[in-house]
Amino acid sequence: MPDRVLSGTRPTGKLHLGNLLGALENYKKLQGAESFFMIADWHALTTEYESHTSIADNVREVVLDYLAAGLDPAQCTIFVQSEVSEHASLALLLSMITPLGWLERNPTYKDQLAELKGKDLNTHGFLGYPVLQAADILLYKATKVPVGEDQLPHLELTREILRRFHHLYGKEIFPEPQPILTRAPRVPGLDGRKMSKSYNNCIYLDEKPEDVTKKMKTMVTDPARKRREDKGHPEVCPVFAIHQQINQSNVETVAVECRGALRGCVDCKLEAAAKLNEFLDPIRRRRVEWEKKKNQVRDILDQGRERAQSVASATLDEALCAAGVRKHD
Ligand code: TRP
Ligand code: SF4
Repeated sequence: MPDRVLSGTRPTGKLHLGNLLGALENYKKLQGAESFFMIADWHALTTEYESHTSIADNVREVVLDYLAAGLDPAQCTIFVQSEVSEHASLALLLSMITPLGWLERNPTYKDQLAELKGKDLNTHGFLGYPVLQAADILLYKATKVPVGEDQLPHLELTREILRRFHHLYGKEIFPEPQPILTRAPRVPGLDGRKMSKSYNNCIYLDEKPEDVTKKMKTMVTDPARKRREDKGHPEVCPVFAIHQQINQSNVETVAVECRGALRGCVDCKLEAAAKLNEFLDPIRRRRVEWEKKKNQVRDILDQGRERAQSVASATLDEALCAAGVRKHD
């Protein structure tokens, strides 16, 4: 069997630089006949069920960001999770065999409960988040799952669930999925924490050039470097982390000049902003083009749904048969 690739993005708004460097860059590299890229709208609902923002509008933003970032619908399958009903069905089947303790111990679950204090996440759906994610992956028998570091516990749970399924029903249906991490598993945001919409510290893919510059000027730097004469420590500076990602040809010079107090932080940030704008330019241009082609975008999703569903329905059938829910005489 050739490698199958599946990954997904929660549509909670426009995508940012962290999404691009942390995941999308890898999606692009893994494009090919057997790659599936999903917009995980059910997963968005697990944390957004109380909010009045339209998840459907956000789905559209993510599709545009996928296309703008360079995913090619001729080379991969782009689809919306809730449009392929097999995801909900397999998640329910897997929920029957998943011990509560596994979900309660999940470190991502505990972190999120603590972090997203403004939201009531004491729900069945939120606890079952990894079960739904396991269903996403297993429906396509994916062997490779490009994700950020924060998703590793979810992948581990997927493997535990599929082992339990095989053990209970005596059939080896699913291959074990492996995570594929990018070179930038953690992209810092403007405040130095991980770039994340919930921290309000993002640079978005469609950000205007002047706003990129404005935002970069506010980025935190090496906290020990208070005056221009102080020598800096690039390894702890978020601006330097951005240089490492998008200014590779000059990154050594940046480091040397920072350590020797030969460059000021303002100039350093302006250089990073200019490089970032160069990097984002083609993405912004492609996005504007796709925004004009509403019908074509809908067609891409329709085709994606059909391709995804033909794989997913066959797997669901196998799983239901194995569990004794369905029988073909
Ligand atoms: N949980 C993932 C995230 O927050 C999104 C996701 C949903 C996903 N289903 C998936 C990722 C399946 C990989 C595979 O980023
Ligand atoms: Fe960071 Fe650049 Fe300032 Fe060094 S010179 S601390 S790398 S912003």
